[in-house]
Amino acid sequence: GRTPMIAPSILSADFAHLAAEAAAVGSAEDRPGADWLHVDVMDAHFVPNLTLGLPVVESLLKATDIPLDCHLMIEDPGTWAPPYAEAGAANVTFHAEATDDPSAVARDIRAAGAAAGLSLKPGTPLDGYLEILRDFDTLLIMSVEPGFGGQKFIPEVLDKVRAIRKIVDSGQLRLTVEIDGGINADTIEQAAEAGVDCFVAGSAVYGASDPGVAVEALRAQAAA
Ligand code: DX5
Ligand code: ZN
Repeated sequence: GRTPMIAPSILSADFAHLAAEAAAVGSAEDRPGADWLHVDVMDAHFVPNLTLGLPVVESLLKATDIPLDCHLMIEDPGTWAPPYAEAGAANVTFHAEATDDPSAVARDIRAAGAAAGLSLKPGTPLDGYLEILRDFDTLLIMSVEPGFGGQKFIPEVLDKVRAIRKIVDSGQLRLTVEIDGGINADTIEQAAEAGVDCFVAGSAVYGASDPGVAVEALRAQAAA
Protein backbone atom coordinates (compact mmCIF):
# COMPACT_ATOMS: atom_id res chain seq x y z
CA GLY A 1 0.00 0.00 0.00
CA ARG A 2 0.94 3.65 0.28
CA THR A 3 3.47 4.81 2.86
CA PRO A 4 1.49 7.19 5.07
CA MET A 5 2.89 10.67 5.60
CA ILE A 6 2.39 12.33 8.99
CA ALA A 7 2.30 16.11 9.30
CA PRO A 8 2.12 17.32 12.92
CA SER A 9 0.38 20.69 13.24
CA ILE A 10 2.26 23.20 15.37
CA LEU A 11 -1.05 24.93 16.10
CA SER A 12 -1.18 22.66 19.15
CA ALA A 13 2.50 23.22 20.05
CA ASP A 14 4.03 25.77 22.42
CA PHE A 15 4.52 28.88 20.25
CA ALA A 16 7.24 30.17 22.58
CA HIS A 17 9.38 27.09 21.87
CA LEU A 18 8.79 26.25 18.23
CA ALA A 19 12.34 25.04 17.52
CA ALA A 20 12.12 22.50 20.35
CA GLU A 21 8.58 21.52 19.35
CA ALA A 22 9.76 20.84 15.79
CA ALA A 23 12.72 18.83 17.06
CA ALA A 24 10.36 16.75 19.20
CA VAL A 25 8.73 15.31 16.05
CA GLY A 26 11.91 15.15 13.94
CA SER A 27 13.92 12.12 13.01
CA ALA A 28 15.79 10.22 15.69
CA GLU A 29 17.98 7.12 15.80
CA ASP A 30 14.95 4.89 16.25
CA ARG A 31 12.43 6.64 14.03
CA PRO A 32 12.02 8.53 10.73
CA GLY A 33 10.07 11.41 12.23
CA ALA A 34 7.45 13.68 10.73
CA ASP A 35 7.32 13.97 6.93
CA TRP A 36 6.07 17.55 6.97
CA LEU A 37 5.60 20.09 9.72
CA HIS A 38 2.13 21.61 9.23
CA VAL A 39 1.96 25.35 9.84
CA ASP A 40 -1.52 26.91 10.15
CA VAL A 41 -1.57 30.52 9.01
CA MET A 42 -4.83 32.30 9.94
CA ASP A 43 -5.74 35.92 9.31
CA ALA A 44 -8.84 36.49 11.49
CA HIS A 45 -10.82 37.17 8.27
CA PHE A 46 -11.03 33.94 6.30
CA VAL A 47 -11.31 32.17 9.66
CA PRO A 48 -12.25 33.60 13.06
CA ASN A 49 -8.77 33.10 14.51
CA LEU A 50 -5.29 34.62 14.21
CA THR A 51 -2.07 32.64 14.40
CA LEU A 52 1.22 33.48 12.73
CA GLY A 53 2.62 34.69 9.44
CA LEU A 54 5.65 34.88 7.21
CA PRO A 55 8.23 36.10 9.78
CA VAL A 56 7.55 33.11 12.02
CA VAL A 57 7.72 30.75 9.04
CA GLU A 58 11.07 32.28 7.98
CA SER A 59 12.46 31.71 11.46
CA LEU A 60 11.06 28.17 11.60
CA LEU A 61 12.72 27.34 8.27
CA LYS A 62 16.08 28.13 9.86
CA ALA A 63 15.24 26.17 13.01
CA THR A 64 14.25 22.81 11.49
CA ASP A 65 15.11 20.45 8.62
CA ILE A 66 11.55 19.11 8.48
CA PRO A 67 9.88 20.36 5.27
CA LEU A 68 7.20 22.94 6.06
CA ASP A 69 3.61 22.42 4.92
CA CYS A 70 2.03 25.87 5.12
CA HIS A 71 -1.77 25.82 5.31
CA LEU A 72 -2.99 29.32 4.56
CA MET A 73 -6.46 30.02 5.94
CA ILE A 74 -6.41 33.57 4.64
CA GLU A 75 -8.09 35.92 2.23
CA ASP A 76 -6.32 37.06 -0.95
CA PRO A 77 -3.94 34.08 -1.31
CA GLY A 78 -2.90 35.46 -4.70
CA THR A 79 -1.02 38.19 -2.85
CA TRP A 80 0.06 36.39 0.30
CA ALA A 81 0.74 32.77 -0.68
CA PRO A 82 3.74 33.02 -3.08
CA PRO A 83 6.05 34.62 -0.46
CA TYR A 84 5.79 31.44 1.64
CA ALA A 85 7.09 29.51 -1.37
CA GLU A 86 9.85 32.06 -1.94
CA ALA A 87 10.85 31.74 1.71
CA GLY A 88 11.40 28.00 1.28
CA ALA A 89 8.23 26.20 2.38
CA ALA A 90 8.00 22.77 0.75
CA ASN A 91 4.24 22.88 0.20
CA VAL A 92 1.96 25.92 0.21
CA THR A 93 -1.76 25.23 0.45
CA PHE A 94 -4.51 27.85 0.23
CA HIS A 95 -8.29 27.65 0.23
CA ALA A 96 -10.40 27.23 -2.88
CA GLU A 97 -13.08 29.38 -1.22
CA ALA A 98 -10.70 32.33 -0.90
CA THR A 99 -9.99 33.05 -4.57
CA ASP A 100 -11.64 33.17 -8.00
CA ASP A 101 -8.55 31.88 -9.77
CA PRO A 102 -6.91 29.03 -7.84
CA SER A 103 -4.85 27.93 -10.85
CA ALA A 104 -3.15 31.32 -11.12
CA VAL A 105 -2.17 31.20 -7.44
CA ALA A 106 -0.88 27.63 -7.86
CA ARG A 107 1.22 28.72 -10.84
CA ASP A 108 2.87 31.46 -8.75
CA ILE A 109 3.55 29.07 -5.86
CA ARG A 110 5.13 26.52 -8.19
CA ALA A 111 7.15 29.20 -9.97
CA ALA A 112 8.56 30.18 -6.57
CA GLY A 113 9.73 26.61 -6.03
CA ALA A 114 7.16 25.00 -3.75
CA ALA A 115 4.51 22.37 -4.23
CA ALA A 116 1.03 23.89 -4.48
CA GLY A 117 -1.96 22.71 -2.49
CA LEU A 118 -5.69 23.36 -2.76
CA SER A 119 -7.80 23.06 0.37
CA LEU A 120 -11.54 22.47 0.58
CA LYS A 121 -13.66 23.24 3.64
CA PRO A 122 -15.92 20.35 4.78
CA GLY A 123 -18.95 21.75 2.92
CA THR A 124 -17.16 22.55 -0.34
CA PRO A 125 -17.78 19.92 -3.02
CA LEU A 126 -14.93 18.48 -5.05
CA ASP A 127 -16.86 18.56 -8.35
CA GLY A 128 -16.20 22.17 -9.29
CA TYR A 129 -12.43 21.77 -8.88
CA LEU A 130 -11.67 18.50 -10.68
CA GLU A 131 -10.70 20.32 -13.86
CA ILE A 132 -8.02 22.42 -12.19
CA LEU A 133 -6.43 19.80 -9.97
CA ARG A 134 -3.74 19.15 -12.57
CA ASP A 135 -2.35 22.54 -11.50
CA PHE A 136 -1.83 21.25 -7.95
CA ASP A 137 0.44 18.83 -6.13
CA THR A 138 -1.66 18.48 -2.99
CA LEU A 139 -5.39 18.35 -2.22
CA LEU A 140 -6.07 19.16 1.45
CA ILE A 141 -9.50 17.97 2.53
CA MET A 142 -10.62 19.63 5.75
CA SER A 143 -12.31 17.26 8.18
CA VAL A 144 -13.25 20.09 10.58
CA GLU A 145 -14.25 23.69 9.95
CA PRO A 146 -10.91 25.52 9.64
CA GLY A 147 -9.94 27.80 12.49
CA PHE A 148 -9.19 25.78 15.58
CA GLY A 149 -7.44 22.64 16.74
CA GLY A 150 -9.04 19.97 18.87
CA GLN A 151 -12.36 19.72 17.01
CA LYS A 152 -14.35 16.58 16.23
CA PHE A 153 -13.68 14.72 12.97
CA ILE A 154 -16.43 15.04 10.31
CA PRO A 155 -16.56 11.56 8.68
CA GLU A 156 -18.75 12.71 5.76
CA VAL A 157 -15.72 14.33 4.08
CA LEU A 158 -14.33 10.85 3.46
CA ASP A 159 -16.64 10.66 0.42
CA LYS A 160 -14.42 13.32 -1.17
CA VAL A 161 -11.32 11.34 -0.22
CA ARG A 162 -12.72 8.19 -1.85
CA ALA A 163 -13.64 10.09 -4.99
CA ILE A 164 -10.23 11.71 -5.45
CA ARG A 165 -8.42 8.46 -4.54
CA LYS A 166 -10.19 6.72 -7.41
CA ILE A 167 -9.14 9.42 -9.85
CA VAL A 168 -5.53 9.44 -8.66
CA ASP A 169 -5.31 5.65 -8.73
CA SER A 170 -6.64 5.60 -12.27
CA GLY A 171 -3.58 7.62 -13.27
CA GLN A 172 -5.47 10.72 -14.40
CA LEU A 173 -3.87 12.95 -11.75
CA ARG A 174 -0.80 12.99 -9.54
CA LEU A 175 -1.79 14.41 -6.16
CA THR A 176 -0.95 13.98 -2.51
CA VAL A 177 -4.30 13.53 -0.76
CA GLU A 178 -4.07 15.18 2.65
CA ILE A 179 -6.61 15.37 5.47
CA ASP A 180 -6.71 17.90 8.31
CA GLY A 181 -8.84 18.07 11.43
CA GLY A 182 -9.73 15.65 14.20
CA ILE A 183 -7.18 13.02 13.14
CA ASN A 184 -6.25 10.82 16.10
CA ALA A 185 -6.02 7.16 17.13
CA ASP A 186 -9.81 6.79 16.80
CA THR A 187 -10.17 8.33 13.33
CA ILE A 188 -6.95 7.77 11.38
CA GLU A 189 -7.78 4.24 10.28
CA GLN A 190 -11.02 5.20 8.52
CA ALA A 191 -9.21 8.07 6.80
CA ALA A 192 -6.42 5.73 5.68
CA GLU A 193 -8.96 3.24 4.38
CA ALA A 194 -10.66 5.97 2.35
CA GLY A 195 -7.35 6.71 0.63
CA VAL A 196 -5.52 9.55 2.42
CA ASP A 197 -1.77 9.87 1.75
CA CYS A 198 -0.87 12.53 4.32
CA PHE A 199 -2.39 12.99 7.77
CA VAL A 200 -2.27 16.28 9.67
CA ALA A 201 -2.53 15.88 13.44
CA GLY A 202 -2.31 18.69 15.95
CA SER A 203 -3.74 17.84 19.35
CA ALA A 204 -3.14 14.10 18.86
CA VAL A 205 0.60 14.77 18.49
CA TYR A 206 1.33 17.78 20.68
CA GLY A 207 -1.20 16.76 23.33
CA ALA A 208 0.68 13.47 23.77
CA SER A 209 3.32 13.04 26.47
CA ASP A 210 5.91 12.25 23.75
CA PRO A 211 5.01 13.90 20.41
CA GLY A 212 7.68 11.92 18.54
CA VAL A 213 6.25 8.62 19.73
CA ALA A 214 2.74 9.80 18.83
CA VAL A 215 3.84 10.48 15.23
CA GLU A 216 5.13 6.94 14.77
CA ALA A 217 2.06 5.43 16.46
CA LEU A 218 -0.23 7.31 14.07
CA ARG A 219 1.89 6.26 11.09
CA ALA A 220 1.73 2.60 12.15
CA GLN A 221 -2.06 2.83 12.51
CA ALA A 222 -2.44 4.47 9.11
CA ALA A 223 -0.29 1.79 7.49
CA ALA A 224 -2.16 -1.12 9.07
C1 DX5 B 1 -7.53 23.76 11.86
C2 DX5 B 1 -6.14 23.51 11.36
C3 DX5 B 1 -5.59 22.19 11.74
C4 DX5 B 1 -5.47 21.95 13.23
C5 DX5 B 1 -5.78 20.50 13.44
O1 DX5 B 1 -8.08 24.82 11.18
O2 DX5 B 1 -6.10 23.59 9.96
O3 DX5 B 1 -4.33 21.96 11.10
O4 DX5 B 1 -4.20 22.21 13.75
O5 DX5 B 1 -5.83 20.25 14.79
P1 DX5 B 1 -6.39 18.86 15.34
O6 DX5 B 1 -5.50 17.77 14.77
O7 DX5 B 1 -6.28 18.99 16.81
O8 DX5 B 1 -7.80 18.71 14.85
ZN1 ZN C 1 -4.21 22.97 9.00
